[in-house]
Amino acid sequence: MTGFEQVARVDEITPARPKRVNVGDRECVLLSVGGQLFAIENLCPHQRYSVFHQAVVDHYTITCPMHSWSFDLRTGKAITGSGRLNIFECRVENNMVWVKKQDTGTDFAD
Ligand code: FES
Repeated sequence: MTGFEQVARVDEITPARPKRVNVGDRECVLLSVGGQLFAIENLCPHQRYSVFHQAVVDHYTITCPMHSWSFDLRTGKAITGSGRLNIFECRVENNMVWVKKQDTGTDFAD
C-alpha cells in the first residue's frame, strides 16, 4: 500500500485499549469505536500535549485528559474548545492496521 505504514495487528486495538504507534515522524493513537478504527495524531490542538492515548472516549467523542477539550473522532472537529484533531487515513488488510503517512505540518485550523 503506497504511502501507508503497517503499525499494528487489529486484535491489539480494543475499545478499552487505545494503542500508541509511530507513523513516519508522527505519533498516533489507534482507537476502536463501534467496530470502526480511527487513527489520530497524539497531539492536542490546545497546548499540544501528547496524551490522547490516555483520553476518555465516549461513543465518538474523545476528551483530552489535560483540560477536557473534546473532539469528534469522525470529523476531528472540536466539541468543546477549538481547533481539530489531525486524523490519519487507516486501513485493515490481512489482520494488520496500516496508517497513511503525512508529510505536511499538522493543521489545527477550524
Ligand atoms: S492540552 Fe488538551 S485540552 Fe489542554
